[in-house]
Amino acid sequence: MLDDKNGIDNFLKKNEGKPVVVIQGLGFVGAVMSLVCANALTEEYAVIGVDLARKDTYWKIKSINEGLFPIVASDPKIEEFYQEAKKKDNLYATFDNHAYSKADTIIVDINLDVAKKSGFYGELNDYDVDLSAFRKAIETIGDNCKKDVLILVETTVPPGTCQKVVKPIIEKCLEERGLPIDEFRLGHSYERVMPGPNYIDSIQNFYRVFSGINEVSAEATERFLRTIISTEKYPLTQLGNTNATEMAKVLENSYRAMNIAFAVEWSRFAEEAGVNLYEVVKAIRMRPTHANLMLPGIGVGGYCLTKDPLLASWSKQTLFGSSEPLGQSERGVQINDKMPLYAYQFMKRSLELEDLMGKKALMLGISYRSNVGDTRYSPVEPFYNYLIKDNCQVFLHDPYVRFWEEKEMEIPLDYEEAFKHDLDIVIISTGHVEYMQSENLLSYLESQKNLFILDTVGLLSRAEIQRLSKRHTVKIVGRGDI
Ligand SMILES: NC(=O)c1ccc[n+]([C@@H]2O[C@H](COP(=O)([O-])OP(=O)(O)OC[C@H]3O[C@@H](n4cnc5c(N)ncnc54)[C@H](O)[C@@H]3O)[C@@H](O)[C@H]2O)c1
Repeated sequence: MLDDKNGIDNFLKKNEGKPVVVIQGLGFVGAVMSLVCANALTEEYAVIGVDLARKDTYWKIKSINEGLFPIVASDPKIEEFYQEAKKKDNLYATFDNHAYSKADTIIVDINLDVAKKSGFYGELNDYDVDLSAFRKAIETIGDNCKKDVLILVETTVPPGTCQKVVKPIIEKCLEERGLPIDEFRLGHSYERVMPGPNYIDSIQNFYRVFSGINEVSAEATERFLRTIISTEKYPLTQLGNTNATEMAKVLENSYRAMNIAFAVEWSRFAEEAGVNLYEVVKAIRMRPTHANLMLPGIGVGGYCLTKDPLLASWSKQTLFGSSEPLGQSERGVQINDKMPLYAYQFMKRSLELEDLMGKKALMLGISYRSNVGDTRYSPVEPFYNYLIKDNCQVFLHDPYVRFWEEKEMEIPLDYEEAFKHDLDIVIISTGHVEYMQSENLLSYLESQKNLFILDTVGLLSRAEIQRLSKRHTVKIVGRGDI
């Protein structure tokens, strides 16, 4: 097996005297966290990002070291922070676990997945949490780390994980290496990062919750967080133990998932009753207590809301031995998983067609979230699958996605080409800023004859709907008034 010992040692030689921060996992969270650490507010760190030497992950390592940051998002600070780190030469990426042996602080930012056996069809209890890859990652740290390292877990984990899984693994590994087991510090502070236009600020300029497995760990975690987060403006919140912070994370996301699930049946009601649910929600949101009532949509995607309530329910039953799941939270995920199907059925009802054989559709947006290229568990995927199953020819566009990994498809850079194909259907599937009040898009839409336009995210304004309705049929998910 190739090693990168020389690469790491050379990098650290150039950064001699700086405390070393190693980030495990260079995904949507870890890669950007590595930028925040390399541009820490009150400390000068040498930062090493570690990811796996796998075919599908190695490109991130290569990309960071070769001058192209691997995450595409609309936040200009990403590029600024990356260029600054390049200038200071204090950011390096590697696959070699040797990095952990040099770390003063190790931040765990890897994935911990929930496998849904029935995919997007959302059957209750039909999921599994497998901790084996997570355990292996923690073992890698334990097998290499310094005896007094600070390990900061940011990965969203089932409550109980730091105490019942991470701590015993690190102790066992240190013991096997003949090292003391009472000097390492273990903290938990979950990420609230929001990929999109405020990507960096959602880490550096935002409130954080933290805890430690003991007093010394909590103090070390707090000290570290103060160096990278604007804590004067965004004070830290300390909770009593790691179970509490772990629970806070999954409760936060379960609350949001439940809120969305609540909006789903009201969307159907509004469609049936000829009501514009967007208007209704806007009116209700004027009450400060109801300000976060959710809007209709094509579905919930992304890595977090689709799994975190299930991680919590799994923990309750498996790590804490309860005989009852978190029933409401699980049901929320199940309802949300069915949103693309409801949106699709709404379209089919409006089209009054059994089959879409010979029809041509353009989907605008693949990412699950506006203004970012993240296609993980995107609700656009099941919607796309329904179109294909109904024999529709589908064209795709997304300004942030060049390659749709889940479907292994290249995505064209512009939508102009698709409009040359005599389209029948256009679906606005992601609310990217590029599609908003875009005269270019509107004139392409107007240039077609007899389109069926489905806006699944409420992107079109009243004036735009009126303008497009002169030629086309326009339908909006959650609006029964047009
Ligand atoms: N994406 C978000 O918006 C978001 C927001 C808040 C919290 N989170 C949480 O943060 C965590 C990370 O999420 P993400 O979106 O960055 O996931 P991701 O899948 O984009 O990235 C995880 C990375 O970890 C790497 N990895 C896995 N095992 C490893 C190992 N043993 N050693 C080194 N690298 C390893 C993977 O190859 C991958 O590159 C998750 O727990 C997630 O729930 C995500």
